[in-house]
Amino acid sequence: MRTKIVAGNWKMNKNFHEGLELTSEITGMVNDEINGNVEVVLIPTYIHLNAISQLTQGSNKISTGAQNCHIENSGAYTGEISAAMVAAAGCKYCLAGHSERRLFNNETNSVLAKKVDAILANNLSPIYCCGETLEERNAEKHFDIIGSQVKEGLFHLNNEQILKCVIAYEPVWAIGTGVTASTAQAQEVHAYIRTSLTEKYGIDIASQIRILYGGSVKPDNAKELFSQADIDGGLVGGAALQSRSFVDIVKGAV
Ligand code: PGA
Repeated sequence: MRTKIVAGNWKMNKNFHEGLELTSEITGMVNDEINGNVEVVLIPTYIHLNAISQLTQGSNKISTGAQNCHIENSGAYTGEISAAMVAAAGCKYCLAGHSERRLFNNETNSVLAKKVDAILANNLSPIYCCGETLEERNAEKHFDIIGSQVKEGLFHLNNEQILKCVIAYEPVWAIGTGVTASTAQAQEVHAYIRTSLTEKYGIDIASQIRILYGGSVKPDNAKELFSQADIDGGLVGGAALQSRSFVDIVKGAV
């Protein structure tokens, strides 16, 4: 059985005070309201990670992650943050390849493969994001695009390494748009990703890897999405910025 994950990607939102307040609210609500087995991950901006990681220590269900990292552990890279620094800030996870970074920061699959290596080398788990644009879906290229994102970013890993990875399928046309992929559309892609993992690593390993859905997840669609055979939770943006809606989404995973 795969333990579901619900991760909140706060992107470039929340000042320090707001971030601490949101963390305290979520921690309290998760402790009071969530009994089942689920992992909750908070992904704030880098500069709040230390403080937020400390605040989450009060819950064994909640951990933290970073939104990105550099491929090197240290060096003359002004303005960058290494996976080693992310780990030292108390994180368990680090995103790699969110579509906003692929788009605005020109992150390619080959650079992302190196980020995944840096994340794993620092004993963190990557949450590796993939997903097609609307144009690519309309041209029926989505399976090819997602297939190459997953293969080029992850398939150099050995068995032990791939088992530490989480994959997030996020159709670009569903991110921040209010248009969620239908459960059938999402499940179809998740099953495709799991089949690719099976072909490369075998069924034993593929069946242990968590594949999250992201793109306009809300309290009223979370439960149906997360109950699909290959959907193991969600990566949530907008609805993660408010404690009530985020914890209601977490409830959809238990
Ligand atoms: P959204 O963002 O939930 O606001 O669509 C998801 C994401 O970008 O991870």
